Amino acid sequence: MKSIKQGTRTAFLMCLIIPIGLYAHGSNTHEAPKKEKKILTKKETNKEILTVYKEINSKYIANIKPIFEKKCFDCHATIGQLPWYYKVPGIKQLMDYDMKEAKKHLDMSKGFPFVSHETPLEDLQSLREVSDENTMPPLQYILGHWDSRLTENEKNTLGAWTQESIQKIKGVRYE
Ligand code: HEC
Repeated sequence: MKSIKQGTRTAFLMCLIIPIGLYAHGSNTHEAPKKEKKILTKKETNKEILTVYKEINSKYIANIKPIFEKKCFDCHATIGQLPWYYKVPGIKQLMDYDMKEAKKHLDMSKGFPFVSHETPLEDLQSLREVSDENTMPPLQYILGHWDSRLTENEKNTLGAWTQESIQKIKGVRYE
């Protein structure tokens, strides 16, 4: 009984090992070995996500910040100097409200990750949304700043950056 059982086990193992051996041989010569995906510990995940955020931020500084500086920072960042018309009665209140509200949602002053109530991933998704739907800058701002609307080129640059960044963040495996 025992030897039959052992024999079966050996045969079973051989069935397993031979194809694996063939497959491994095949994959060594023809394909790149598959990268083993391991589950990361919390510490490793944090380290990896920080590296990803840094990469995203360096692309942000190079390609996106120049656009946002011109078209979004008036409301979404703390800027040194307010325009002269800030002093005009009625305008001040309107601008104060916009600037406070805008920064409450998304403060771009310190680069990526932005300061907001959302996760960095959600911020990127909202950025993609406002760009696709042409909802930012708000209409009342565009009325006073005709050149503040995002151009097609800028939208493409922004779209490529958000897309790539979203993929990068999603690529980090959580525990
Ligand atoms: C005149 C001020 C003003 C300007 C300029 C402005 N925003 Fe905003 N933004 C706001 C306000 C106010 C809110 C919050 C209320 C809202 O969602 O309408 C907001 C919210 C947002 C949000 C969050 C939306 C959400 O669903 O939570 C994003 C993303 C955003 N803005 C992106 C931009 C981008 C990108 C630009 C430049 C192209 C820009 N904004 C320019 C005032 C502004």
